[in-house]
Amino acid sequence: MNNKYTIDKNRVAQSFSYAAQQYDNSTILRQQTADELLDRLSFITVQPKAILDLGSGTGRNISLLAKKYPKAKIIALDIAQAMLKKAKYKFQHGLNVKHWLPNYQNPVYIGGDADAMPLANNSIDIVYANLSLQWCDFEKCFAEIQRILRPNGLLTCALLGPDTLNELRQAWAKVDDYAHVNIFYDAHDLGEAMINSRLVEPVLDIDRITFSHKTAIALMKNLKEIGAHNINKSRRHGLTGKMTLRKVANAYEPFRHNGLLPASYEIIYAHAWRTKQPYGDTYDNNGTIKIPINQIYKRTAR
Ligand SMILES: C[S@@+](CC[C@H](N)C(=O)[O-])C[C@H]1O[C@@H](n2cnc3c(N)ncnc32)[C@H](O)[C@@H]1O
Repeated sequence: MNNKYTIDKNRVAQSFSYAAQQYDNSTILRQQTADELLDRLSFITVQPKAILDLGSGTGRNISLLAKKYPKAKIIALDIAQAMLKKAKYKFQHGLNVKHWLPNYQNPVYIGGDADAMPLANNSIDIVYANLSLQWCDFEKCFAEIQRILRPNGLLTCALLGPDTLNELRQAWAKVDDYAHVNIFYDAHDLGEAMINSRLVEPVLDIDRITFSHKTAIALMKNLKEIGAHNINKSRRHGLTGKMTLRKVANAYEPFRHNGLLPASYEIIYAHAWRTKQPYGDTYDNNGTIKIPINQIYKRTAR
C-alpha cells in the first residue's frame, strides 16, 4: 500500500534496539497508556489461554499481564532483538513486577515483525499492543492479528495519533521540507483498516497528553532515547548539523508557555474482535467468502 505512512522497518528495529538500554528511563507516557489498556481489560470476560504482547519492548507489561492472567501463556513479540533480550533478563531477575506469581508460566519471546508474525492461525485469545502498532503497516498487521486470533479473540491497543508532536512538526516545517516527525495514523484510517481486515465491532477513542521540556533539544534527545525518532521513508538521510538543530530550537520557541516547551501526544485507544468463525471457515486467505455447500439453495421464483 502506498502511502503517507510508509515506514522503514530496518530503521525501526535499529532505533529500538539502540534505545533498549536507556529505554526504561522515559516511561511515563508508555506506563500511562499501558495501564489504561490493562484497566480496560478488566471489563472483558474473555478467559485467555494465550496472550500476545505485541511490540513488547523491555517487557514491563508482560509481568502485568502474567499477574492479571496467571494461567495464560504470555508471548512477547518484538522486532528489536535487544528489547526482547532486556525483557527476558528483567523477567528472569524479577525486575518488573514480581514474577513469583502462582501458576505463572515463563513467557515465550519471539523476534518478529507484526506485519508477518511467526504465529499459527487461531492461536491467541488477546493481542495487547501498547504504543507499538504505529510503527507497522496497519493493514498488514491488522490482517495478521485477525489471522492469529481465536474466534471471539480481542485486539486491544494504544497508538500515537497524527497530532502527536505537532509543535515539533511545525518547528521543523520552518527549517526544511523533509518529514522529520513520524506521520501517525488517524483514528478514522485505523477503524477502516480494522474493518477491512475483518476485525469486528471496533471501538476507538482519543486522549491527549502534553509533556513539558526545558528546551527543544532536550525533547529531541528524549525522542531519540526512547527510539521514537523519525522512521518515515521520506525523512532526510544523513546527520543533522548543530546549526540546523539550533534553527529548529528557535522555531519551537513561540510555543513556550510558563517557561516550558510543550510536546503534545495524541493517544488513540482501540479495540476490536475476531469474528466467531474460526479462520478459514468463512473466508479464505484472499478474502473470498466461502459458503458451505449445504447452505446453498435455489431461490424459488415468485
Ligand atoms: C514505544 S515501544 C512500546 C513497548 C512496550 N509495548 C511498552 O509498552 O513498554 C514500541 C515497541 O514496538 C516494537 N515494534 C515496532 N515496530 C514493530 C513491528 N513491526 N513488529 C514488532 N514490534 C515492533 C519496538 O521495537 C518497540 O519495542
